[in-house]
Amino acid sequence: MSFPWAKQYEPTNAVTKFLDEKLPLPRLVYNAVGAGYPVPRNLSYAWNFGVLAGFCLVLQIVTGVILAMHYAANAGVAFDSVEHIMRDVNWGWLMRYAHANGASAFFVVVYLHIFRGFFYSSYKAPREMIWLIGVTIFLLMMATAFMGYVLPWGQMSFWGAKVITGLFGAIPLVGEPLQIWLLGGYAPDNAALNRFFSLHFLLPFVIAGVVILHIWALHIPGSSNPTGVEVKTESDTVPFHPYYTAKDGFGLAVFLVIYCAFVFFMPNALGHPDNYIPANPLSTPAHIVPEWYFWPFYAILRAFTFDFILPAKLWGVLAMFAAILVWFFLPWLDKSPVRSGHYRPLFRKFFWVLVADMALLFYLGGAAAEEPYVMLSQIATAYYFLHFLVILPIISSIERPEPLPFSITEAVLGADDKAALPAGSAA
Ligand code: HEM
Repeated sequence: MSFPWAKQYEPTNAVTKFLDEKLPLPRLVYNAVGAGYPVPRNLSYAWNFGVLAGFCLVLQIVTGVILAMHYAANAGVAFDSVEHIMRDVNWGWLMRYAHANGASAFFVVVYLHIFRGFFYSSYKAPREMIWLIGVTIFLLMMATAFMGYVLPWGQMSFWGAKVITGLFGAIPLVGEPLQIWLLGGYAPDNAALNRFFSLHFLLPFVIAGVVILHIWALHIPGSSNPTGVEVKTESDTVPFHPYYTAKDGFGLAVFLVIYCAFVFFMPNALGHPDNYIPANPLSTPAHIVPEWYFWPFYAILRAFTFDFILPAKLWGVLAMFAAILVWFFLPWLDKSPVRSGHYRPLFRKFFWVLVADMALLFYLGGAAAEEPYVMLSQIATAYYFLHFLVILPIISSIERPEPLPFSITEAVLGADDKAALPAGSAA
């Protein structure tokens, strides 16, 4: 929303005046992420993750483009070309480790961003569109990451590709032709590797475009905040710059410390050792596991072990996609007028149960497909859908929320005279 008190951009010299007339890019930046964008004064560090996700996207594109200069998308040499990057290319090891751990970092940050959204019901009106675009970004990220993992053409690359493309074979009638069409053959090989490389290069730029839509949609209502109470007066906001450039800068510094610890001290901690074995279609690994960020959905896929009207495998595939698609309906499943989990006692409890359930699914997706893990996956999957489809709608109709503060300023400064003073003079 453009608040009437938003600071106006003033070009100060001949160059900025010229630009403002011909192509007002500085004005755009000023109004989007500069002093011209008023933001709730009470945003916590939970609001850092959007900017961090943007940073990860840029990091992945920069390191990925450099890797692509040396990588060879041919099943005969792909594995060796990655070893060449690691050993012969100047700083190649750094680019590869930065990219591989960057993917994990990106998912960590985006999962935290999504769970922030769950807790503060950021998906609710008027922010439904930001949420819907966000879920689309997440689906695109998953497709990109899946194809990226195939590229080193190690054992997990090959068998991961085989399992996941094999899922399409479960679709009745069109499944098998679709699978062959996707792979360009009967099994992952050169054709598949080439198209995965091409799409893995393209999709991050598509994501970047969709992120612009995400931010655009965000700027219409503006950010929500930990109280969930909307901005009422000027004193409820502070300019994005310098307040949140500083806060996001601090968040970025903390993020970089943790990220660099992985890149420089334990670069393979999150990877699977089998992917250092060249792809071998004749030798199936004992446990085929995807990268950790797919584990909850992999656990849901494997939870279906018996045929019921449809084959078990098809149920698994449908449930795996439904587990993400259900997020699209969240703005309409949760009808409570109160946004923030801080004022919703019952919702808050079930939020933490969902976190525990997702943590369990994470663990189970990485575990072997045997008992008791399979049974636990079935329970955790049933609870996952129960949460979104039954518990959330019921909570929103029976819960008695706690009293909300009158305004953001009141929540920060208390309900006294100071609360009425404009931002800046209140301290
Ligand atoms: C490349 C991935 C993404 C980027 C770069 C990104 C970027 C951002 C940024 C910069 C913000 C504003 C700052 C903040 O609230 O943290 C934001 C807000 C938001 N994002 Fe994302 N985002 C991404 C993915 C997602 C996903 C996957 C979802 C949901 C499934 C999502 C849902 C939201 C929502 C609902 C808001 C508004 C939050 C509020 O104001 O309470 N985003 N995003």
